[in-house]
Amino acid sequence: MHLEIRSLTESNQVKFKTIIEPFRIKTIQPIRQTTEAERSEALKNASYNLFQVHADDVLIDLLTDSGTGALSDQQWSAMMRGDESYAGSPSYFRFEKAVREIMDFAHIIPTHQGRAAENILFTSLVGPGQVVPSNTHFDTTRANIEAMKATALDLLIPDGHQPSSQHLFKGNMCIKSLEQVIEKEGVKNIPLIMVTITNNSGGGQPVSLENIKQISAVARHHKIPFFIDACRFAENSWFIKKREHGYQDCSPLEIAQKIFSLADGCTMSAKKDGMVNIGGFLCLNQDSVAERCRTHLIQTEGFPTYGGLAGYDLEALAVGIKESLDPHYLEYRIQSIAYLGERLTKAGIPIVLPTGGHAIYIDALQMLPHLKPTQYPAWALANQLYLSGGIRSVEIGTVMFGLQPDGTEKAAPMELVRLAFPRRTYTQSHVDYVIEVLTHVDSIKDQIPGYQIISTPRPLRHFTANLKPLKLNPAA
Ligand code: F0G
Repeated sequence: MHLEIRSLTESNQVKFKTIIEPFRIKTIQPIRQTTEAERSEALKNASYNLFQVHADDVLIDLLTDSGTGALSDQQWSAMMRGDESYAGSPSYFRFEKAVREIMDFAHIIPTHQGRAAENILFTSLVGPGQVVPSNTHFDTTRANIEAMKATALDLLIPDGHQPSSQHLFKGNMCIKSLEQVIEKEGVKNIPLIMVTITNNSGGGQPVSLENIKQISAVARHHKIPFFIDACRFAENSWFIKKREHGYQDCSPLEIAQKIFSLADGCTMSAKKDGMVNIGGFLCLNQDSVAERCRTHLIQTEGFPTYGGLAGYDLEALAVGIKESLDPHYLEYRIQSIAYLGERLTKAGIPIVLPTGGHAIYIDALQMLPHLKPTQYPAWALANQLYLSGGIRSVEIGTVMFGLQPDGTEKAAPMELVRLAFPRRTYTQSHVDYVIEVLTHVDSIKDQIPGYQIISTPRPLRHFTANLKPLKLNPAA
């Protein structure tokens, strides 16, 4: 009798449409309101570079989703178990076990963040004059490859360069181009092939499992190692579940396991889908390369069972990486980005479609047609969002990518402003505020000035470059 009642209730279960934040708030951090005059002063003092603005002067910080998320109570509890032994800490073994359940590689090497894993891998594997193809290299990945005097090559499918294209996997690599590059450069000149999931620099767009299978097949055919830049692997797995035929009944964990079974290793910034404030790792199968990597790790990061991290960081990562694959969390995460995207599209603001995983990317070239790429429209729009509403975003355009290795400047393929959402940190009312500010900025867009670089280092100039606004409508 009891059983019958239960099954009746389950079959009549009402499915509510509202997707809620699947957590309640246990600790809060106040955020500071400022006036437009105060922000104008702060921006001027920062040489018109949002990276130089003090975080206390920012209301909603969408600069990055990297290391900026909230930890769960389970992570904080696990951190109390952190064991700080220099060698052989049990925290390391819990970290290794949690990672291996998802990414079953022979060697799992902790690092303090993703770029350290890149540096260690490329130092061990890449030589001068070689070429490393990817869908799109992230800026630190590119810089680490170029530091080895090698070339970082982007082979994104053409749809990936079209902000308005509705291709469901705009992060895919063009397989034909990959084959042509191998043919032209020769297998010996390609130390590894990479793919970035999701494709951060190209709009947070996912890569399909089909595409990953094809890259893997090409790599295996030529015996070239295949590595995944795995920062946002959980979000990418969710997109595969939702958008790719044949995976709707698989769990995000099963999809992630399939992805990594196709590769020879990965670099990971755990500050994204590891759900931690600091941490990363490098995974690989080949023993001889792993040995070189560990030697370099000891020189630069620390002993191989802590790799620059505290024992409690490893504990937080071990719990966080599993939490990132929770379907309720992923549904809320991807839907809250889609919600913002839908509202902005309705307001006529041009964004990269379909919306990606961790961020919204505004097409500044389309929104500010009065500015040329060399007047940095995406930089200009990001600064205006800060001035008008205290929102900090980041330019992904010509300031970030325009400087060529020979010192000349070339317009970046796209002029984007990225609004990246820290994980489990902001609520829907924060998102509604962002929509209101953007709608206002859209109404005054003709008055947004372009920018000029005053001084800049090389490479990665966007972090520290000093700029100044141009006069509106310069004669040139
Ligand atoms: N690869 C990708 C795709 C990334 O997005 C990042 C970092 C890295 C590698 C490097 O990892 O920061 O831990 O050293 N992206 C951050 C961002 C900084 O804002 O997108 P890291």
